[in-house]
Amino acid sequence: MNVNVVLVGHVDHGKSTLIGRLLYDSASIKSERVEEIQKLVEEYKRRFEFAYFLDSFEDELKEERTIDTVSLMFMGKKNCYTITDVPGHKEFIKNMLTGASHADVAVLVVSVVEGVQEQTRRHLFLLRMLGIDNLFVAVNKMDAVAYSKERFETIRSQISEVLSAFGYDAEEVTFIPVSAMEGDNIYSSSEKMDWYDGQTLIEALDEVTLERETKPLRFVVQDVYELETEKVVVGRVESGVLRRGDEILFEPSGVRARIEGLRFFGREDDEATTGDCAGIVIEGTVRRGDVGGPLEDPPRAVRSFFGETVFLGDELRRGDILELRCGTAKVRCEVSDIKEKIDSETGEVLEENPESISEHDAATIEFATEPLVVERFVDIPELGRFVLVKDGRNIGAGVVLQTDLGV
Ligand code: GTP
Ligand code: MG
Repeated sequence: MNVNVVLVGHVDHGKSTLIGRLLYDSASIKSERVEEIQKLVEEYKRRFEFAYFLDSFEDELKEERTIDTVSLMFMGKKNCYTITDVPGHKEFIKNMLTGASHADVAVLVVSVVEGVQEQTRRHLFLLRMLGIDNLFVAVNKMDAVAYSKERFETIRSQISEVLSAFGYDAEEVTFIPVSAMEGDNIYSSSEKMDWYDGQTLIEALDEVTLERETKPLRFVVQDVYELETEKVVVGRVESGVLRRGDEILFEPSGVRARIEGLRFFGREDDEATTGDCAGIVIEGTVRRGDVGGPLEDPPRAVRSFFGETVFLGDELRRGDILELRCGTAKVRCEVSDIKEKIDSETGEVLEENPESISEHDAATIEFATEPLVVERFVDIPELGRFVLVKDGRNIGAGVVLQTDLGV
């Protein structure tokens, strides 16, 4: 079974190092790659760091911090994992939102030296918002505190308190004392912590089981190519299955069409499944931003929806006009009502019906938009998250809680 894991946590608490360790210990890295990195590190006169196994490592060497989300695969003893490294740095909350949205489980990395920090809290808030309940806590850098049980217990209860505040049942969450650098309790059981008889991180992850439900087809249109003999609509299957011969409805265009042909890059098939990019041949005019789905459970274009947002701009006021992006759609929208202003470090509601919110606030907001296909995040995450843009700058990101407000 493939499990999508996202790693979150405060800057420098060891996320990238932990991933590097997982990849290394599970022998998911080719030896040429190890040599290649050792050479690079020499060039940069740095100490060998596991974090350098990650992609874009050349940038990391220069920047010293994760600057974009990176996905990698590795094998557990049972499950197969796709793991996403999310930057801990403030400005990258937006990436975190998009990166975490596919996650089945999350690993929260907390340094035993520093304990809970601002980003630890903000990331937990986002996990909650994204409905990721399956959570593991890696209390990292145990080597730096001489593998002290006391220090572990202190940090564990500090984290538990925060978890409870966010509505997690802290008793149900697995806490693992680890050293990503030394490899303790990650892939193999540590000999330096005989006071701990719990699972290693990989053992804990290997126990995860998932139920994936079947969802209706959502084909998101990226481009339309008018060839001499046919018109090919290129897009991505974000959920469900698309078959040659199916009749589907595109919204907001309202075009109903039969799929006459299916084109892949480099292969032939009669169907495209979730995650596939494909070209379809249809009669009728659709455009980028349209979403196709089955007649019995079609996508619906709405003119308003209710969402939860983390705001990263300076100020957002009721009545503001913004650009909203969801899937491949780009529309104008208005902030018609701000229902609640929420503290993104604690999840607490700070104010009902505020006039405005400022940087780092979260909020529940009613948007009025040009016709747009959105889905509730819990139903189809790929069409249930959005980004807010003003003057070409990303100023927020969020998830759709409710569609079709009937406005
Ligand atoms: P950002 O991507 O910038 O958010 O940081 P990160 O969480 O990915 O941290 P990273 O893995 O880059 O590690 C930060 C620093 O902590 C590096 O200098 C690591 O060598 C160090 N570090 C990571 N894990 C451990 C550990 O288990 N023990 C000790 N002593 N140091 C560690
Ligand atoms: Mg990192």
